[in-house]
Amino acid sequence: MFHVKQFGGPVIHVDGLRKEFRLAEKQAGFSGTLKALFNPTYKVVEAVKGVSFSIQQGEFVGFLGPNGAGKTTTIKILTGILYPSGGTALVHGHVPFDRKPEMLQQIALVMGNRQQLWWDLPAQESFTLLKEIYGIPESDYKQRLDLLVGPLQLEEKLTTQVRKLSLGERMKCELVAALLHRPSVVFLDEPTIGLDLTSQRNIRSFLKEYNRETGATIVLTSHYMQDVEELCERVIVINHGTLVYDGTLTALSAEMSGQRRLRITSTAQDFDFTPYGNVISQVDGVTEIEVASADVADITAKLFAQIPISDLAIDEPGLEETIEKVFSTPAQPQ
Ligand SMILES: Nc1ncnc2c1ncn2[C@@H]1O[C@H](COP(=O)(O)OP(=O)(O)O)[C@@H](O)[C@H]1O
Ligand SMILES: [Mg+2]
Repeated sequence: MFHVKQFGGPVIHVDGLRKEFRLAEKQAGFSGTLKALFNPTYKVVEAVKGVSFSIQQGEFVGFLGPNGAGKTTTIKILTGILYPSGGTALVHGHVPFDRKPEMLQQIALVMGNRQQLWWDLPAQESFTLLKEIYGIPESDYKQRLDLLVGPLQLEEKLTTQVRKLSLGERMKCELVAALLHRPSVVFLDEPTIGLDLTSQRNIRSFLKEYNRETGATIVLTSHYMQDVEELCERVIVINHGTLVYDGTLTALSAEMSGQRRLRITSTAQDFDFTPYGNVISQVDGVTEIEVASADVADITAKLFAQIPISDLAIDEPGLEETIEKVFSTPAQPQ
């Protein structure tokens, strides 16, 4: 594939970033409307409350958090769509909201829930327009297009009106459109949302390859943990507008997975498992208990000595569960 332009220092630098939205509150009835007109009252929503992180060139970072955590708001600030209420956000040393051409040339934004291609045109024509907008030389354009369209398996789809494509095909075309100008920083906000599994898988392997071959920095939000597990070495987790974790995915899993779940199948009637661990469920002779991973050997030995056991399984909590736990951790006051 091609390589993106390399820069020194952190590509993305966010320091004490804040964003609040002011929503005008309207009271009921005509008098309420009048009142709101002459004496408006506002409700303040603090979407981002002092978030700091830095991202280096070439990193593939998962930006995670439950709905309403502030992910999209942060991404909109980093792509110059929103102006922050406080703190710093820099991309390649530029303030994104200034929308300087040299910064715009280096970034791309794909939002899974928003369409950027012209609906009534075949994707090919949108791509040609983008080529003009970004001033991409003809020879480069052909080569770049092939390198994007091939792995995404879009060869046959370029002349079809975008509105007639499947959701997965449309999203792949969105990716091509976003990457044609060879941005060095790519923001992907839920790019696989609602797609069929085959398209999800195809987009995942494309992104993995793209990051590896071009050296582009990618920031990805996704509700699908498989995306994150396969692509992101590092994750930044925010909750209620506050950073709750920044580090490797492996360390996060290890940190949160001090617990193991034992699934014990036994014919023992009325056996009390509570002294051995936290009883999660007990159905048809199968009991699930949660124990500290360090105690697993000791507890299983004790259980084998106490009751007849026909099956025993030890489960590690999956990433989904791990992230769930991080989300429910109260944010540290900053
Ligand atoms: N334009 C807006 N006006 C008012 N509130 C907003 C606006 N955009 C986002 N919010 C609020 O800011 C918070 C963070 O939203 P968002 O950044 O979209 O979260 P996420 O992408 O993590 O789901 C939410 O409470 C949301 O309702
Ligand atoms: Mg969002």
